[in-house]
Amino acid sequence: MSTVALPTSWRSVLPHLDEHLPPDRTPRTAGGASVQVNLPMELVRQSVQHKEYWDIPAEVAEAYRAFRPTPLWRAKGFERAVGARVPVYVKYEGGNISGSHKLNTALAQAYYYARAGVRELVSGTGAGQWGTALAAACAMFGMKCTIFMVAGSLRRKPYRGTLMRTLGATVHASPSGLTDVARQSEAGVNSLSLAIGEAVEYAAATEGAAFCIGSGETYSILHQSVIGLEAADQLAGLDAEIDAVVGCVGAGSNFGGIALPFFSAAASAGTEPPLLVAAESSTTPKLTRGTYAYDRTDATGTGPMEAMYTIGSSYPIPDSHSAGLRFHGAAKVLSAMRHRDQITATAVGQVEALDAGRLFTRGEMVLPAPESGHALAAAAHLAGAGAEGSDGPLRAEKGVLVCVSGHGYLDLGAYQQLMDGELANESPDPQALSRAMGGLQRVEQLAGAGAGAGHER
Ligand SMILES: Cc1ncc(COP(=O)(O)O)c(C=O)c1O
Repeated sequence: MSTVALPTSWRSVLPHLDEHLPPDRTPRTAGGASVQVNLPMELVRQSVQHKEYWDIPAEVAEAYRAFRPTPLWRAKGFERAVGARVPVYVKYEGGNISGSHKLNTALAQAYYYARAGVRELVSGTGAGQWGTALAAACAMFGMKCTIFMVAGSLRRKPYRGTLMRTLGATVHASPSGLTDVARQSEAGVNSLSLAIGEAVEYAAATEGAAFCIGSGETYSILHQSVIGLEAADQLAGLDAEIDAVVGCVGAGSNFGGIALPFFSAAASAGTEPPLLVAAESSTTPKLTRGTYAYDRTDATGTGPMEAMYTIGSSYPIPDSHSAGLRFHGAAKVLSAMRHRDQITATAVGQVEALDAGRLFTRGEMVLPAPESGHALAAAAHLAGAGAEGSDGPLRAEKGVLVCVSGHGYLDLGAYQQLMDGELANESPDPQALSRAMGGLQRVEQLAGAGAGAGHER
């Protein structure tokens, strides 16, 4: 086990990317006006400015100190269980009230929104960790909180809703009866994209409220850089060498948080970065089987269209225990890096993910979230015989750093199904995938003529 000091700044990867990210394309309403995104200026700056270090505000740092720095250790029990050839180091983000890394950005966002005069934050949540993190952050900064949680997840994990309500939030199962986007959605649809769409609509209609989001935005990934910055110091303290960094990917915040500081450090030093491996769910294989195109981030389509690796926002994502990974697209920063082969990806099925989680629990006495199980399965492959990545075979030769993004205490139903032999992998239907991606405008097609038509936020 190793501990270090809390970083005083977040570190942005943007100055180290060769080009600017493709600009967002702001949709126009029926009347022709563009939709305004209600974002505090500091979050806008953090999304577009090519400034490397951003001071962590004192109030946010004080809140971080309750649970950061988070532990990093060499997972020898897990190494033995999976037959690893090289060491596996774990960075554990599940030890705070929200149970995951999501609190790192929730606290920062609540702070900036409260300073901007917003009194209520509204969001959609899949697995529930983001909703819990936002509920905790709102409680901390004296704000109201309203959460739309994917109904299937809430049914499976009712205590997530209870925890959010204990923290003072109002929780609605999505689809709810409260929004047009839900009323107009197809019967039976319950996805993160719809829950987010409901939150967008509800926030727009509520005085003093703002919609906020916890995963794919560039500023969320910036806030999550505390994970990788601490990990780099902790590895140095252990004299440990790694050549691969792994995190699971919903839209990409814990992976971006752990991996991108290593990319920035290598770019600054002029050295080769470690292999940066995004472990996605085989139910939503945007980085391994998706396309780089402009797509919506939610079901309302009122937000800007972003350049992302996507399987199409209309793709009907099958139900699974990897609720936090059930998102159709990857963050635009990560998508741009994937496009330039600066990161790579591998897809993992839920059976393998939960099995890796089970081995990790026995070996390390820490119960990981099913989402984190995807990263552990990928780490086991990298440290063992190797893994199949989006760009060919992947194998670590020195050591692997893996982010365990959350705990699985409210996901024991998934482990129970695994051990009772009731869990199956859901593979995407290739025809449904190509239908959902069919109408999308590829980013390459826009280079030159169309690219300037977007609006940078
Ligand atoms: C524990 C956990 N890990 C990972 C994720 C995926 O999100 P992201 O890609 O933003 O890290 C989630 C999302 O809810 C989560 O709850």
